[in-house]
Amino acid sequence: MTTKTPHAQGLMGGLTNYGDAGFAAYLRRSFARSMGYSAQMLAKPVVGITATASDFNNCHRGVPELIEAVKRGVLAAGGLPLEFPTVSLGEIFLNPTSMMFRNLMAMDVEEMIRAQPMDAVVLVGGCDKTVPALLMGAASAGKPAILLVTGPMMTSRYRGERLGACTDCRRFWAQYRAGKVSDEGIQRVEQSLATTEGTCAVMGTASTMALIAEAMGVTLPGTAAIPAVHADRLRAAEATGQRAVQLIGSGLTLERIVTQASIDNALRVLLACGGSTNAIVHLAAFAGRLGLKVSLDTLNRISDETPVLVDLKPSGTHYMEDLFAAGGSTALLRRIKEKLNLDTQTITGERLSDWLNGEAEWIDNDVIRPAENPISPQGGLVALFGSLAPSGAILKRAAADAGLFEREARAVVFTSLEDLAARIDDPNLDVDADDFLVLQNAGPIACGMPEAGYLPIPGKLARAGVKDMVRISDARMSGTAFGTVVLHVSPEAAAGGPLALVRSGDRIRMSVRERRLDLLVEADELARRRASFKPTVQVSGQRGWAKLYREHVLQAEHGCDLDFLRKE
Ligand code: FES
Repeated sequence: MTTKTPHAQGLMGGLTNYGDAGFAAYLRRSFARSMGYSAQMLAKPVVGITATASDFNNCHRGVPELIEAVKRGVLAAGGLPLEFPTVSLGEIFLNPTSMMFRNLMAMDVEEMIRAQPMDAVVLVGGCDKTVPALLMGAASAGKPAILLVTGPMMTSRYRGERLGACTDCRRFWAQYRAGKVSDEGIQRVEQSLATTEGTCAVMGTASTMALIAEAMGVTLPGTAAIPAVHADRLRAAEATGQRAVQLIGSGLTLERIVTQASIDNALRVLLACGGSTNAIVHLAAFAGRLGLKVSLDTLNRISDETPVLVDLKPSGTHYMEDLFAAGGSTALLRRIKEKLNLDTQTITGERLSDWLNGEAEWIDNDVIRPAENPISPQGGLVALFGSLAPSGAILKRAAADAGLFEREARAVVFTSLEDLAARIDDPNLDVDADDFLVLQNAGPIACGMPEAGYLPIPGKLARAGVKDMVRISDARMSGTAFGTVVLHVSPEAAAGGPLALVRSGDRIRMSVRERRLDLLVEADELARRRASFKPTVQVSGQRGWAKLYREHVLQAEHGCDLDFLRKE
């Protein structure tokens, strides 16, 4: 790693505006001393640390201990560590959906990094929306920043079977809905699914974001997969604090580190690890903050030439702690290094080629498969285009039933989440296993794009043993979910996309081979329907964040960022 002599403004950076700089500096020193710091400490370069712990965020339960370790590293390297609170987004604790607040957190992070006197910042977080929000905010703030993820949870056991949030959450819930697990059984599962601090234990959104962040060079090498409770996680935190001090004066901002080649590397890793569909949206938003792009055509090209190598749920069988034991994130990057652009810059000051120099000491081939024995020969995600999705839609083919990929079928339409909840288990619902379930008005403008795209199998079909159906919506899906689920249909129904015009009984054709998704309805009939179209927007409120969000949120292919926050 390169070490620079800090050229820091420290606490005297960005003085409060009184029209008298001398007075502002004197007052700031005075008030800072009231916190018990010596003059010697107050003269040091300042490293800010985002404090994202919250009693509403189980995944960040370990953040206070991580911050203590970061502070050790900052002090050892000659800096003054100062933590500051930000919005914290606990995935399961937010209404209507955490996605509606990712941009709010990103704005908070950006403004607090810029407004407060810090020379560099350590971004500490892990739960699904936190890592993208931290990176988006720090990218726009423009100060040197380094990411430290919380790390994944450990697995637990239920009747001898391993359990990990949250693929197993959904598996057992589907069994419960089908009458195969008792009330008592589901209660036992409920208390065993998430038993330690840290992020979801599978290749969900949090794990995917951690891996692609490392691939983009914005974390220390080898840190993405370290379990939250492992001592190595604290050592990584200490080293991250040290590196943050060294970043001061280096000019290594996220804008300098992350290029289009870094974004394409991230896509490559996302595909090789069978990662979350949500990561596409978050990566597009982060790229947009830097004037870069995630192209769905590029996704398809890279997907066709990138096998899925990581055997983790929901696409495979293992958990994040197994990925760590198998050699961790560095082993994965080494395994696919011929497909990466190794000239990209990293937070260490080195190139990716320097990190990945040499061969891995050992890799567990059951968890990180060799290219000759992949989980699937092509990447985990694919983008579909057509008359139903002019700006694209996403299918996680690695977690889907390939037997459903080339189909034409009848649409069974639900016009909203409320309509879905009211009718999906109706014994009189006109549906059979070959139909396509279609959900409208669950996109970014309509209701914040919740993880509702994993429509439940209608109760009567679930009880008859149906496990998967084609489901199509403008919603998202949890990275831990599985099934033949077409997501992020764009433009969304509430924006007047063709999805809004689908009616029950229409025919839809899907061809994954051709990357097509088409609504087979005559143009004049569609024109008739369009004439009576009225947008359905459920993000309520004429004030505050809901108003700002609704008026400025972009569609999925632009990462659902707000239009005025992107770098053009
Ligand atoms: Fe926080 Fe899954 S709920 S990572």
